[in-house]
Amino acid sequence: MNFLDKIKARAKADKKTIVLPESMDKRTFAAAEQILKEGIANIVIIGTPEEIAENSKGYDISGAVTVDPFNDPNKQKYIDKFVELRAKKGVTPEQAKEQMEKDYMYYACLMCKCGDADGAVSGACHSTGNTIRPALQLLKTKPGISSVSGFFVMEVPNCDCGDNGVFVFADCAVNTDLDSAKLAEIAGLSAESFKTFTGGEPKVAMLSYSTMGSAKHDDVTKVAEAVKIAKEKFPDIELDGELQLDAALVPSVGELKAPGSKVAGHANTLVFPSLEAGNIGYKLVQRLAKAEAYGPVLQGLSMPVNDLSRGCFAEDIVGVVAMTAVQAQLAGN
Ligand code: ACO
Repeated sequence: MNFLDKIKARAKADKKTIVLPESMDKRTFAAAEQILKEGIANIVIIGTPEEIAENSKGYDISGAVTVDPFNDPNKQKYIDKFVELRAKKGVTPEQAKEQMEKDYMYYACLMCKCGDADGAVSGACHSTGNTIRPALQLLKTKPGISSVSGFFVMEVPNCDCGDNGVFVFADCAVNTDLDSAKLAEIAGLSAESFKTFTGGEPKVAMLSYSTMGSAKHDDVTKVAEAVKIAKEKFPDIELDGELQLDAALVPSVGELKAPGSKVAGHANTLVFPSLEAGNIGYKLVQRLAKAEAYGPVLQGLSMPVNDLSRGCFAEDIVGVVAMTAVQAQLAGN
């Protein structure tokens, strides 16, 4: 069984309810049909009857619940919750209603917050920023977590590095301003994500262009400081750095450049020093090594909400919904 088949099997074992707010996109309906047919999750689709009729043509979504954001008996409950959650920002009921009608992702997050759904997936026709901003504003981070970040599970064919070619890469999607404290937090969350999604023991490499002080620069100090913080904060996680990518992955290079490190040469969880490095890094591996890239999956949010690539296929939406459902199982929602 490949990675995705295992995730789908886990999702089916305890079905969760996932909201898809992009009724303006046909891929939503193609994915919903497959999810319902395979029994991966219960599906709620947000859209007007016209949007749904137009874009669902040819797909059997009779097993989905549809919610019309203009005529929903629960709408006032969601408006009240929006106003309560954004009281400090001075959001009025009129503004809340307008925002929910204009951007269904707000509606989806409020359904999650009010316990009417377990998670949401969007982004087939919205940018990453517009997909995750409602979740950041309304659902917020898990207790004790300062920043939400985004990881990919990478499945590299014919690869004996990592966990037989399976890795977690982070942060590849969210934080444009990574400092040492945030990198350390991402290391802890990514280790947890590796365990959750692969069942294996994480070995976390904090990546840099320097290995154990081989270069001197503020960028290197940032990662070295993150390693110090992470080791203090997560003494049970196998974590090391700063490491160059080859020292992290290749045993002979790891032994040469970082002798004595338990992680060097055996890393399966890669924490990149910046969003540029993480985003470019996962795409390089995906395109040149023909790896499967599952994500970006958000970690650190209080409830599971996940983003899609705008170039995604319906099959990709199915995969992200399955991963979201597994996150919801673990969150106990
Ligand atoms: N974790 C938790 N909360 C956050 C985070 C975070 N990482 N970032 C912002 N927030 C909170 C803010 O505190 C704020 O809360 P408040 O409204 O209660 O005060 C709220 O979210 C909105 O924050 P803003 O800074 O106003 O939001 P912004 O418009 O800057 O959006 C965003 C934040 C969307 C995460 C932004 O940082 C971003 O666009 N990041 C890059 C996304 C991207 O383009 N990724 C690459 C493409 S993805 C791919 O290729 C797979």
